[in-house]
Amino acid sequence: MKFFLDTAHIPHLREAAEAGLIDGVTTNPSLLAKESGDPIQTVREIAKIVEGPISAEVVSLDAEGMVREGLELRKIADNIVVKIPMTLEGLKAIRTLSLQNVPTNCTLIFSPMQALMAAKAGASMVSPFVGRLDDIQSPGMELIEQIVDIFTNYAIETEVLVASIRGPMHALEAARMGADIATMPFAVLQSLAKHPLTDAGIESFLRDWEKTKTK
Ligand code: E4P
Repeated sequence: MKFFLDTAHIPHLREAAEAGLIDGVTTNPSLLAKESGDPIQTVREIAKIVEGPISAEVVSLDAEGMVREGLELRKIADNIVVKIPMTLEGLKAIRTLSLQNVPTNCTLIFSPMQALMAAKAGASMVSPFVGRLDDIQSPGMELIEQIVDIFTNYAIETEVLVASIRGPMHALEAARMGADIATMPFAVLQSLAKHPLTDAGIESFLRDWEKTKTK
């Protein structure tokens, strides 16, 4: 499973990319709005830091506008993936862009049939939002299980990108279910590398090592 960072915060992206921890990035209008300066400039900067796919979202609501924006976003760098919301207009835009070999990420997926429709339209990735489903007492990870099953049944190549991840258990379950990608905030990515017994083990090894100096 690939690890993406779900952020537009340059210092976090730089730190994760330098450590070789991430395979790609997802942004959205809200994440870009949290950063200072021009959002397009921020995406441009992200593209200089990360080699893998970088999702940048359109804000038009009609297919024509989405396609126009998507083609503009693609001019930023070759690794830009055009992120398009799951609507009927969005599906039309995905179809048009995929026929031009432009990679797309269909976002705001909350049902398995939405995912199947996006895949049929030609989306390169689908983004089911697990945390937002959990928030309304609907088990987000069940959606991932269903989408992975359906895509496996029909040998669909569209990647399942688990989004709206809130903690390490979402990432663990995504990997167990065979999702292709998990996109997560920086703090969640860091937490995946941690274990209290690792810290305790290092501490006791160092303590014992110190004893060898007094022998
Ligand atoms: C994914 O691409 C979205 O940017 C993101 O995961 C949304 O997460 P949130 O529900 O925590 O805002």
